[in-house]
Amino acid sequence: MPRLTARERREAYQREHDFQVKTGKAFFPYAIFHDTVASLVTVVLIMGMSIIWWADFGPVPDDPEAGRAGGFLGPAYENRADPGTEEYDPRPEWYFFFLFQLLRIFKEPEMLLFATIIIPTLLMVLMMAWPFIDRRPERRVSRRPIAMVLAVATPVALMFLTWEGSKAPAVGAASDHPGAAAFANFQPCGTCHTLADAGTGGTVGPNLDTSNPDYATALAIIADGKGAMPAFKAQGLTDDQLSCLAGYIATWAGAQAGAPGPKAPTAEGYPDSCTAAGPDYAGAGAGG
Ligand code: HEC
Repeated sequence: MPRLTARERREAYQREHDFQVKTGKAFFPYAIFHDTVASLVTVVLIMGMSIIWWADFGPVPDDPEAGRAGGFLGPAYENRADPGTEEYDPRPEWYFFFLFQLLRIFKEPEMLLFATIIIPTLLMVLMMAWPFIDRRPERRVSRRPIAMVLAVATPVALMFLTWEGSKAPAVGAASDHPGAAAFANFQPCGTCHTLADAGTGGTVGPNLDTSNPDYATALAIIADGKGAMPAFKAQGLTDDQLSCLAGYIATWAGAQAGAPGPKAPTAEGYPDSCTAAGPDYAGAGAGG
């Protein structure tokens, strides 16, 4: 651009101003009208959804503690909150599942800060800074491969993390089979092992639903350890407790739809050893 004198700049501005006054659209009523229509559409949408939500309410329950059913837009209200429960499974709203999943990937306490605060903050700062970083005038899609790859990869990564996060197993024992609570709550097994029946999702040791050991294999490894697997006999577990855990795994690993898994016949009568092993082993799941 050639340098302009102040006078030339004033004239250029005046020309532009005159042009806009002649051809442009005035704020009132043009912009005001548009904003009004857009807000009205939003308000009508919200009102419509509330009416559909309200029209779907189920009957008022007799029990004052109980929830009241609704339709596909959600219940009228849910059960009264119970501050004493140990079964509550804290889960974020679906649109936070990606963060939830990041939390599950970064398990170490030192990495938590990284996953929940540092990574998202950096990404947000990057997003705001981007117009200042990338100042090339090029706007054609075909000339901006990196931007395009990022534009596709970001939503794909978010959707993947959201999907994975939605499959996160519940905390605590999911089932009330004997041994489930011991496996998930009273012993650290669940922090290292995935076992769907117990509702655990550890990834340090083998996924027991997949490896699906029989009773004798499980018992030997739980008692004596192997590699990174601690020896639980040395940690003071009784024979009944070891037998209960091995029986529980043999019976319920790889279980589908409430039926015992394929190795169940190798652990017949295992609930007896759980009963003998004490209330933490015989008992039901978390909070039971
Ligand atoms: C520190 C992590 C950790 C903990 C805690 C842990 N395990 Fe393991 N477990 C492992 C690892 C690692 C292996 C694989 C050992 C190998 O084969 O080298 C394993 C193997 C096993 C196996 C054999 C799986 C197979 O199919 O071969 C069973 C059964 C098992 N663990 C049960 C348990 C039980 C029950 C508990 C709780 C009392 C428990 N584990 C606690 C890490 C752990």
